Amino acid sequence: MMPPIAVIGTGIAGLSAAQVLHAAGQSIELFDKSRGSGGRMASKRSEAGSLDLGAQYFTARDRRFVEVVQQWQTRGWVTQWQPSLYNAQDGQLSTSPDEQVRWVGIPHMSAITHAMLDTLPARFNCRITEVFRGDRYWNLLDADGNSYGPYSQVIIAIPAPQATSLLAAAPKLAGAAASVAMEPTWSVALGFNSALDTRVEGCFVQDSSLDWLARNHSKPGRNKQLDTWVLHASSAWSRQHLDLSGEAVIEQLHGAFAELIGCAVPPPSFTLAHRWLYARPAQSHQWGALADADLGLYACGDWCLSGRVEGAWLSGQEAARRLLEHLQ
Ligand code: FAD
Ligand code: NAI
Repeated sequence: MMPPIAVIGTGIAGLSAAQVLHAAGQSIELFDKSRGSGGRMASKRSEAGSLDLGAQYFTARDRRFVEVVQQWQTRGWVTQWQPSLYNAQDGQLSTSPDEQVRWVGIPHMSAITHAMLDTLPARFNCRITEVFRGDRYWNLLDADGNSYGPYSQVIIAIPAPQATSLLAAAPKLAGAAASVAMEPTWSVALGFNSALDTRVEGCFVQDSSLDWLARNHSKPGRNKQLDTWVLHASSAWSRQHLDLSGEAVIEQLHGAFAELIGCAVPPPSFTLAHRWLYARPAQSHQWGALADADLGLYACGDWCLSGRVEGAWLSGQEAARRLLEHLQ
């Protein structure tokens, strides 16, 4: 019998690939360095309720993704979020409504990957540091020195800068991953005891330290005890303030928010800062996925297509498709 397939990363890309392989009757094992699935779609449990610190919502434009999102909706994993949208330019807020359908997981973003993972075998708190090949098959090594294997094939579904060293056995793939720059994002959550006196529920921001702000509790199914907000700094600001302490980041972004929002902003009763080191690829690509089918090594993730949830899901589908194609 063939050994199973290893999938490294339980973000949306890794789980998208894993679902296709599982449905095709392949045996798989998943690995993730975090405590749970979701990656950049994960939500943070906190005393202010569950907070979407990474992906805020997603859009579906590709026919295949539109279809799967409809299935997710039928199963109750996602619903539409229709925020009262604003735009801020040169410090001026203006309403900016549109017809775009925007989806969120319920009751939090990570509900989607939790449901996709279901009963698939996964090992968490396990950072893979090496992917190496024996005579015929692959083995993995983790940061604690444990080894896993053998595996017939390996799919690496993690951000490009982290994937590069794991792709060392396939220098062409490693070179492609190494060419992808990814930008950081500082994310800050604020919680207020009484609701801020504003109609804003989502706001695209230009020419500011901020890039986006969202009233987290305006999303369906969220805890309404505190008026919670999530602020994202721009890539440029995040890069320039990469090593600032969480407290200093909260102070600065809270200040920018208070200036922008146009109503009284009291001191928050809850604050949290999270730094996403590899938040978004600096450019889109048309790779779909990276593959060395003869070796049995594949890479996928948002960085192979667009730096969005949809791109990551499509990339996972493509990696699994190419792997299955080679098995036939
Ligand atoms: P990831 O989600 O990064 O998954 C990779 C997984 O691999 C992680 O779980 C990680 O823990 C694990 N991992 C990494 N290295 C290792 C290792 N060595 N060993 C084991 N496990 C490892 N997209 C949208 O469409 N709409 C948005 O509004 C939006 N907003 C965003 C806001 C922020 C702040 C960020 C950071 C991202 C946002 N995105 C948004 C982008 C979206 O979240 C990503 O495109 C998508 O989630 C990427 O999925 P992925 O599976 O490719 O990677
Ligand atoms: P989308 O269509 O809602 O937004 C795409 C872009 O169009 C926005 O960034 C914004 O600039 C503009 N836009 C859309 N609607 C607008 C409106 N009503 N008023 C003013 N501007 C509007 O969603 P899509 O294409 O799915 O993009 C995903 C979002 O995720 C983007 O906003 C992107 O910036 C964000 N993202 C953030 C990351 C981060 O690290 N902060 C990483 C990856 C994505």
